[in-house]
Amino acid sequence: MSTIPHPNPAVEPIPQFDLSAQYAAIGAEIRAAIERVLSTQQFVLGPEGAALEGEVAALCGVAHGIGVASGTDALILALRACGVQAGDEVLLPASTFVATGSAVSALGAAPVFADVRPETYNLDPSELERRVTPRTRAIIAVHLYGLAADMDAILALAKSRKLPLIEDCAQAIGAVYKGRRVGSFGDAACLSFYPTKNLGAYGDAGMVVTNSRELAARLRTLRNHGQTAKYLSSEPGWNSRLDEIQAAILRVKLRHLAEWQRARRSNAAEYTHLLEQVPGVMPPHEPGGCEHVYHQYTIRCERRDALQQHLAARKIGSSVYYPYPLHLQPLYAHLGHKAGDFPHAERAAQEVLSLPMYPELRKDQIARVVEAIAEFVKC
Ligand SMILES: Cc1ncc(COP(=O)(O)O)c(C=O)c1O
Repeated sequence: MSTIPHPNPAVEPIPQFDLSAQYAAIGAEIRAAIERVLSTQQFVLGPEGAALEGEVAALCGVAHGIGVASGTDALILALRACGVQAGDEVLLPASTFVATGSAVSALGAAPVFADVRPETYNLDPSELERRVTPRTRAIIAVHLYGLAADMDAILALAKSRKLPLIEDCAQAIGAVYKGRRVGSFGDAACLSFYPTKNLGAYGDAGMVVTNSRELAARLRTLRNHGQTAKYLSSEPGWNSRLDEIQAAILRVKLRHLAEWQRARRSNAAEYTHLLEQVPGVMPPHEPGGCEHVYHQYTIRCERRDALQQHLAARKIGSSVYYPYPLHLQPLYAHLGHKAGDFPHAERAAQEVLSLPMYPELRKDQIARVVEAIAEFVKC
């Protein structure tokens, strides 16, 4: 007989994600930062944005940051700055958020998918090698869930084929690979500050970081209508600028990021320790030399959908990132892929489940989540 209590209507819900405790802790700082911007009445391309660009670039260990309107725009502008245009091919993983692919499509280029490693959900470098063609113009490496991709092998391939490498760091700000932060490996790297990210704005925002002065200058032009001087445009660009209120909010949050990442890692360690006793569930893998920042704590389980329902009945939130790999999205039906083309990405889409994860999550809540999972695997 199980000693675990039956679902109780009075039980506290555990959401998969919750920003309210964070706001309760830093609300006064945030409001002061917003007030500071309001008092200047400078809302676009001002001192807060410039300061944030320097601070985020320094965190990533690179020279330049270029604030833009979203992580998606960061990808589009970085691809364009690296020379990608209509008719080109860009290699990227089949398991990622759709924006990684749609940024390529937005330029009229074609995404070429590669399968992922089953234990990390990140690009399998040997897959890249197989799919390079004379039309390949760039590679995007995604650091999914907050874990760095296998950068040594990916960089070696990019170098040998003379292909620009763009890192999609949307989920992985601060993650470490062999002593270096993600964002410092590629020709350019893209960050999203979507509210739910480890460093999240109060709206949409993003940034490209790079060590290249030339790319940085081009990106500053591209984000502002292609203008090289006031009202003088040398090429078509975008209006994609990070506004001052978001920048000021992000600067407040950046001061807390290291502490929040430590809390996420501590929560992940607690989950992984407790899940050791639970058969049939695979916790996330952190390869040696990597420091995962656990944007998501993602397990896999063969009966994933039933597990998700079991957790929901116990008021425990969970999410599937992502239920469809990119090659099976209706968006890419014209590419002619079928089920079975990228088996690891497809299996991940059927089995992954992201558990509650945020810095303020308590150890007793983690214990309750794991108890509910243990109860499920017994039935
Ligand atoms: C892997 C990945 N790439 C790109 C993006 C796009 O970022 P944004 O939502 O800021 O446009 C996201 C964010 O949702 C993401 O998770």
